[in-house]
Amino acid sequence: MPGSLEGLDAVLSRVDSGLGAAEAISSVLEAQIALRNNRRLQAAMRSSRLPAVKTLSDFDFGFQPSLKREQIESLATLGFVERKENVVFLGPPGVGKTHLAIGLAIAAAQHGRRVYYGTLADLITSLEEAHAAGKLLHRMKTLTHPSLLVVDEIGYLPVSRTGAMHFFQLMSRRYEHASTVLTSNKSFEEWGEIFGDEVMAAALIDRLLHHCHIVNIRGNSFRMRAHSDLWKQLHPDGDSASASSPPRKRQRKKELTT
Ligand SMILES: Nc1ncnc2c1ncn2[C@@H]1O[C@H](COP(=O)(O)OP(=O)(O)OP(=O)(O)O)[C@@H](O)[C@H]1O
Ligand SMILES: [Mg+2]
Repeated sequence: MPGSLEGLDAVLSRVDSGLGAAEAISSVLEAQIALRNNRRLQAAMRSSRLPAVKTLSDFDFGFQPSLKREQIESLATLGFVERKENVVFLGPPGVGKTHLAIGLAIAAAQHGRRVYYGTLADLITSLEEAHAAGKLLHRMKTLTHPSLLVVDEIGYLPVSRTGAMHFFQLMSRRYEHASTVLTSNKSFEEWGEIFGDEVMAAALIDRLLHHCHIVNIRGNSFRMRAHSDLWKQLHPDGDSASASSPPRKRQRKKELTT
């Protein structure tokens, strides 16, 4: 029990200052449980390919007033994973779609659920590679298995026709079998264009939305907030109007006026 061993000295010093035997034993065991949970999470993070640790408690709901905090907190209780429902985060760049999707995946991993993350482009590439190697079925099964699959960034990169077909097959397999969390900067009407086939996109959306929570985020980019804070730090004496604008905006303004 390495966790207990590591925490033992600290617990013993608390015993010297009056901690009771039952509490001391409890603290020693809690240290072991904490270590085990942490290791389990680390292992889940590695196998799930999550790109970063973004938790829901790090999310600043005050910055995104269009987002209903209760809806996200309710999703974080993972009933949707139990019921094999989907979640779709829609919104422009930087509003926190990936952050929230990863936050839900981490919450699921912490509860011992198997999770997997990929951008749409990555997942399609892996399916196409498996197809070329004659291992498509095996890859499909691997990607159907996780209780929660995150499909990030639908709409940023073009999708080939065969890639779109493979993705449709994957989503059909997961339909009513396991939850998928998707993010997109494009509205559903534009998915036909992304997948290069209106009929297939309609069938895909039909399956996804049958049991689905849609979270529409209408707000400003958190990345731009970071830029504008940096701009203010670099130009503390600048006039307030220009200081609140990030450099690109000001450049554009200049172009328009000249
Ligand atoms: N409300 C927020 N509170 C804290 N951090 C946030 C918030 N919104 C976004 N972020 C952070 O801002 C960065 C951009 O957010 P994120 O990657 O989730 O945006 P996105 O909506 O997925 O954008 P894109 O469409 O460009 O992929 C991330 O580092 C994320 O952790
Ligand atoms: Mg994103």
